[in-house]
Amino acid sequence: MGKDVIIACDFASREATFAFLDRFTGKKPFIKIGMELYYAEGPQIVRDLKARGHKIFLDLKLHDIPNTVKKAMAVLSKLDVDMTNLHAGGTRAMMEAALEGLTRPDGTRPLLIAVTQLTSTSPEAMAKDLLIEKPMEEVVMHYAKNAALSGLDGVVCSPLEAEAVHHACGKEFLTVTPGVRFADGDKGDQVRVMTPAQAKAIGSDYIVVGRPITAAADPVAAYERCLAEFVG
Ligand code: C5P
Repeated sequence: MGKDVIIACDFASREATFAFLDRFTGKKPFIKIGMELYYAEGPQIVRDLKARGHKIFLDLKLHDIPNTVKKAMAVLSKLDVDMTNLHAGGTRAMMEAALEGLTRPDGTRPLLIAVTQLTSTSPEAMAKDLLIEKPMEEVVMHYAKNAALSGLDGVVCSPLEAEAVHHACGKEFLTVTPGVRFADGDKGDQVRVMTPAQAKAIGSDYIVVGRPITAAADPVAAYERCLAEFVG
């Protein structure tokens, strides 16, 4: 798998998504579809975007009992997505069941990536609400190792954690990193950010970029700039 830029298509409707992608004449960026768009438009939006030639990261972050996740993953696999994800907090049994469900009869399957702790969870909330007393970094690395031991392909993490994840789980274990901003751009609500070039230097495998591209005056130019900085 080569390095790539994944555009977070955080739009509320099919119309807004297609209007955005129509600007990319002749180009087929790898795109991320999240809960908002998927729940608004249903699985047909995935089929239609696949039919237009896009690779798709379906970001639904599954978390349920192993049997339910296995069956849900089988459905997502039939949608022919290229990458999908779940919460590592669902345990190794859930992650292993997910992989089984995702694997097609011919042995192929989409990439499966784990969310460790959400970046919106503060160490205080983790201790108070979840009763997890260990330091955040130790928890994130432990969950990443569980994902690797379960046979998953990688984790979603901050670019700042990518190096440590590769160190703990191996170079082949994928790091998919949001929180990317241009050096001269707005940070928005992201706190710990890196430029595409820094994310490349630190070894991220995929960067997930939303507003720096979707809200740019010229989204195609912003995407090209990301590609040039990250992929080279
Ligand atoms: O617009 P922006 O570049 O901040 O978008 C980043 C995308 O990555 C959004 O879809 C956001 O939900 C997602 N994401 C994130 N941080 C995480 C996990 C996912 O920003 N830890």
